[in-house]
Formats: sequence, C-alpha cells, structure tokens
Amino acid sequence: MCGIVGHLGPNNPMDTVLEGLSRLEYRGYDSAGIAYVDDKSELHFYKKKGKLANLVSLLEKEKHTVVGCIGHTRWATHGEVNDANSHPHTHGKISIVHNGIIENAPSLKNELASEGFEFQSDTDSEVFLALVTSNLKNGMDFLPAVSEAFKRTDGNSAFVVLNAETSEILAIKRGAPLVAGLHEANSDASVSSDPYALVGSSETIYFPGDEVLVLLSKRHNDIISFYELDGTESKNYKSKKQEMSLEATDKGDFEHFMLKEIYEQPGLTRDLIQFYLAGDGADLLNKVSAWKPEKFHISACGTAAYAGMVIRDFIEQRNRIPCAVELASEFRYRNPLLREGEVGLFISQSGETADTLAAQGLCVENKMKTLSIVNVEGSTLYRDCDENLLIRAGIEIGVASTKAFTQQALTGCLLSYAIAGDLESEEKKKTIADKYSLLAERIDDILARVDELKKIAEEIYNYNGFFFTGRGQYFPVALEGALKLKEIAYVHAEGYASGELKHGPIALIDDQMVNIAIVGPALFDKTISNIQEIKARRGVIVGLGPKGESDLDDICDFKFDLNFDGLEELSPLYVNVANQLLAYYMAKFKGTDIDKPRNLAKSVTVE
Ligand code: M6R
Repeated sequence: MCGIVGHLGPNNPMDTVLEGLSRLEYRGYDSAGIAYVDDKSELHFYKKKGKLANLVSLLEKEKHTVVGCIGHTRWATHGEVNDANSHPHTHGKISIVHNGIIENAPSLKNELASEGFEFQSDTDSEVFLALVTSNLKNGMDFLPAVSEAFKRTDGNSAFVVLNAETSEILAIKRGAPLVAGLHEANSDASVSSDPYALVGSSETIYFPGDEVLVLLSKRHNDIISFYELDGTESKNYKSKKQEMSLEATDKGDFEHFMLKEIYEQPGLTRDLIQFYLAGDGADLLNKVSAWKPEKFHISACGTAAYAGMVIRDFIEQRNRIPCAVELASEFRYRNPLLREGEVGLFISQSGETADTLAAQGLCVENKMKTLSIVNVEGSTLYRDCDENLLIRAGIEIGVASTKAFTQQALTGCLLSYAIAGDLESEEKKKTIADKYSLLAERIDDILARVDELKKIAEEIYNYNGFFFTGRGQYFPVALEGALKLKEIAYVHAEGYASGELKHGPIALIDDQMVNIAIVGPALFDKTISNIQEIKARRGVIVGLGPKGESDLDDICDFKFDLNFDGLEELSPLYVNVANQLLAYYMAKFKGTDIDKPRNLAKSVTVE
C-alpha cells in the first residue's frame, strides 16, 4: 500500500518519478505528491488529493532544473484523504515519503510536539519527518539523523528522505517493500516500492535487506551505496539485472489492464505447463515433493486465499495429504497448531502482502519448511521462503486479480501431480499437458463467446444484490466471483456454498436478487434443487452450467453454456473466467474505474 519512489541524476528525475508513480498507482490512489531539489539546492514540493493526474496538472509550468526527486502515491491509513495528509511531508530542507504504519506514532507525536515541532497533518508519517529534522537540528549528519529516527519507529515501514541541503536521497525499510535501481552509466539511481516502477530507467535492481540504509549521492564514487544502521558499509543486499520490459506495461488494444489480463490466460496456461514439465520447473517440483509433508498449512489473502482452496482440493484429492486453508490475517494471530514436518504454503501475487508474510514468519518460528506459490520473483515472500514455485503470470496491473488466480491454482495442481510421482513418467506428463492444453482451449472458447456474457451483464447489472453459488470444487470460485464483482462494480455480492443458502441468506431473496449459479456435473441434481429454492422465491437465476440439460435450462432466466467434458478437475478455473468477464462487463456498464477501483490497493502491505 502506498507507492514510494525517488530518483537522483541528470536523466529527468521528475519525469522518472512521475512515470514511476504512474506504475505504482496500483498501490493506492487517494493522493499523489512529489518533492524535488533544484540546482540551487532549493526544495520544492507539490501534493494533491486524488489520482496522479491531479498532481501532474499542477506541475505543467515547472521550469527548474531538477537534481533529485521523490514521490508518493497514497492509500490512506492515518488521517483522511486530503491535501494536507498527502505525502511528501516537508520541513526546512527535508522532505519524506512513507509506506507502512508507524505503530508508536501517537507517543512519538506527543513527545515531538512538546519539543515544539508543529505538525501539519494527521498522519503517522510526519512523525518520521519530525524525528529526522530534530536529529539534524541537534547536529547529526544526514545518515545518522535518518538512521536514529528509523530506530525509534515501531512497525513495518519504508521511508524515502530527500535532503535538499546535500542533494542526497536516503531510503530504508523494515518489513515493507523497497528496491533500488542503477542506471548502467552510474549517473542515475532510483529507489522504489517495486522494480516495475524502474523499468526503462534502471538496468540493475538491488534488493536491500531490512534496516539497510540506501544512499543515493553524487558525493561518492558509486551513486548508490548501502549502510548498516551504525553507519558501516553493508553487504546485506542482493542484485539482479532488470528483466521486465516496457511492453508488458502496456494495455495494447485493450480498454483496461484487467481485460488484457483476462485474455492472457490461455497463453499463460500453455507457457506454465511448458516450464514445469519440459523446462527447469520439473526439478523444482520434484525437490519440493521430496519434503514429504505430513500436512500443508495454506495461508493467503483475498483472491490468493480462494486459489488456496482450489489447491487444497487438488492436494487432498490426489495426494490424500491433509491441507488446512486459512486467511493469513487470522492464521497469524490464532496460535495455530504447527509442527515440524508440516509445510507452510503461501500464495500471493505480489509476494508483499503483510499478513501472508507474517503467516510465513510464524511457520518459520515453528521450524516448518515454507513454500510459496508467487508471481513476483525477488519479492519479500520469495526471498523468505525455502522454495518458490513461480506462477509466471507476468506483471498483473489491474487491481482486481485475474490471471494470477488461474496461474496460482494451476501451479498448485502441478505440485499435486509432482507429489503423486506423476512427473516421473513421460506418459503421465503427456496426459497432464493434454489437460492443460484442453483448459486453454476451453478458456479460448469462453473468450470467443464474450458477447453472450456481456449481454447477461447488461441485463443484470442494476439488480440489488448477487449470490454466487457453487458446490464442492466450485465453491471457491463462487467466492472469487463475488469478490471480483464487489471490488470492481461496487455492488453487494456474496459467494455461498449452494447447500448453505437455506440456512439464513435465503431470507434476502426476492425479485431484485440475482443468483449466479455454478452447476457442474458433480451433485448436479442437488445443485438444481438449491436453485429451485431461489427460483421459488422469485430470485433471478443466471446459470453457468452444462449445455442441453433441460432441468437446468428451464429454471434459468439467463444461461451460459459450459462444456465440462474431459475437464472436470480443472473446470473451476474455466468457470472462473466466465465470472471474471461477467464482473468486468457489469463494472463497465456501471461506469466504475475498473483498473483502479475505489478504496483498494493492489499490494496490501499493512495488516
Ligand atoms: O498480492 P497478493 O496475492 O498476496 O494479494 C492478496 C489480496 O490482497 C488480493 O488477492 C486481493 O484480494 C485482490 N484485489 C483481489 O482481486
């Protein structure tokens, strides 16, 4: 949550920061701001409530020569959404941006206010500014002033500090994402919450450890240098070449990133199977299988948690290994029963979700092996786990997760095949590859029939509420379908097990409620009975189910045919694509901001 970025060097620091912010806007868009130092060591800052575009229009007449710049895009935690609470926070020649929460901000604020610091905002972040400026006033140099200020903060945070006096930028983090980037010529350097913000401006990406100070300065031979909190040089960082391309950050001909990402799914399914069966991935799967877990504890948040439920079914059905799936925010505080010999499996697109990271930490404390199914290579989760199965989804920019869900579930399914020993046999590998390729074909088929789903979306988007229902393997995708609709169309939707509605929620059914009923071949008759119960109470029925079943067709107000033949195990993923498109088009008819829905951030780095 919140995106932070900084750039020092002659290559258009302000434009680079604004470009970085536009890529980090998925992390929050309540407000945006920048501060920069010019060639006369003067500090300038601008900040504005609302999306980045509001800030950009303020900057049109800026004419100074910019030497270094920092920027922020906000997802509000402390203090309402207004200009004053927007970052950067500035005092004298110092300006800071912050991502995270300073847990002891109230007591620090009282102390600093009593010493005479006049706070301008209601944020916790300004406390850090007050600490740094107070340290400088007391005669400390820049680096110790930031380091000592950081030591006094509790909680997970990343800070970027611009010092206009010295034209230097310092960044530091604890439990929050922060990377640094170097321009090949050593002329320019950047810091940011995500390597994605640095595509095009940095060729080498550094991943500093927690509590490592990253200094961007022209006063040293190297424009980037790393220090421990005591000021000694630090080696606690990793580096790699930037591998992302600018092309991946483009919407192409699609109106929204979400739609582009939905359409990428068949291709990604095909690539995934290639990597894990024919490429380097098979060894990794076999290595993880050799752990022979007694039990999996799957922990994740939001869409990733629903993918976890799908994976639980794959593993329990195929391997008969018990799997518990829990929301990471609950797992971490529930004092769960964890034993050595059990494996923690963490699912995440970003690899930066605070609760998921904490759940992983808890498993490590309990001496368990930890495995991630993750999209972002080099993310904190990736670095913290013993092994990682990359889902190879490419950058996911739409805040509503789509392709990551499919790739997470498919990667988990491959893990279950590996545990079963199926990757040892060429014949079995071929059967698996055929299933994945059939899934890709079926998704292609849904995409080709998008107009049918668009038509249904047009008919139903104005109803009062939506129940997505499904049984067994379709229950997780009912939950995911409802989440997708809520987050992008801003309508009330719930995912329910088909058999559970009559235990309470059926009281809500009337002619203004829609039931999007997922009907698979398993338990077909029972699911039809459940739909009848809704229909009898005048609920509107949208059936997602097999073709030519008159029992189903007769009770549906709207029907989308699905072909389950030969695809039973992977069919939840296929059904889910229909739900994704329904949500997308309902949101489009509602006219919401699909790629950046209100109140959300893609990477939830606070608990
Ligand atoms: O990056 P992660 O997969 O760990 O994120 C977890 C959730 O925050 C995420 O899936 C969220 O629910 C999405 N907005 C859903 O579309």
